[in-house]
Amino acid sequence: MNPINHVAIIMDGNGRWGLKNKKSRNAGHKAGLKTVEKIIKASMKKKIKFLTLFAFSTENWKRPKKEVVYLFNLLEDFLKNQLESLHKRNIKLKFIGSRNFSKNLNKLLNLAEKKTLNNENLQINLALNYGSKIELLEAFKGMQKTKAKVNERNFIKHLQTKNIPDPDLLIRTGNTNRLSNFLLWQLAYSEIFFEKKLWPDFNKNDYYKILDKFKSIKRNFGNI
Ligand code: FPP
Repeated sequence: MNPINHVAIIMDGNGRWGLKNKKSRNAGHKAGLKTVEKIIKASMKKKIKFLTLFAFSTENWKRPKKEVVYLFNLLEDFLKNQLESLHKRNIKLKFIGSRNFSKNLNKLLNLAEKKTLNNENLQINLALNYGSKIELLEAFKGMQKTKAKVNERNFIKHLQTKNIPDPDLLIRTGNTNRLSNFLLWQLAYSEIFFEKKLWPDFNKNDYYKILDKFKSIKRNFGNI
């Protein structure tokens, strides 16, 4: 049985769900947030230590302004309303991605990280304005500035995910089979599960089924 320490998720399908069920993409994002809350609860129940969620990519800025503004308002409200509850549940929050948002949002992200820094239950890594290629380029630049030998062990110290173990599994909902510039280095040996359901329809039983499947996979890491 494989232990599950870290689950990463590409929460895809909000827009399609919203258009199909409520005639607006943004309604899909609102429904997607409910799934986020369910999956946080389910992860805690399963004693998972790290949950990394792809909430906004460096490419998502290309979307209509109305949708981008809606997503950031949703995030801001979520943090303002839920920070206390997340903290009480001993959850640690970390944000990965380039942090060049409004002064207020930057302040809120810093506050959330600082407040929950010593929490030990579940660590949620929220990928916001995140792109793996930029992360890798920045890590190469960081590496160049040091005299340290170029090797894996030294290189990973320059990634935004330093101190976070690599994901054991990646789940992507929304019936799309690609990585979309997410954790390209870190997913090198992760098991990947592509799920047909759209993110707002994904529920804890779907999640548990994937976790069970993962547990029984023989992981070779290049060995036989
Ligand atoms: C991808 O679906 C989803 C996003 C770009 C945003 C993810 C956001 C949430 C789940 C809600 C907010 C979360 C937090 C933590 C505040 P898509 O819109 O690309 O779906 P589509 O492929 O159907 O267009």
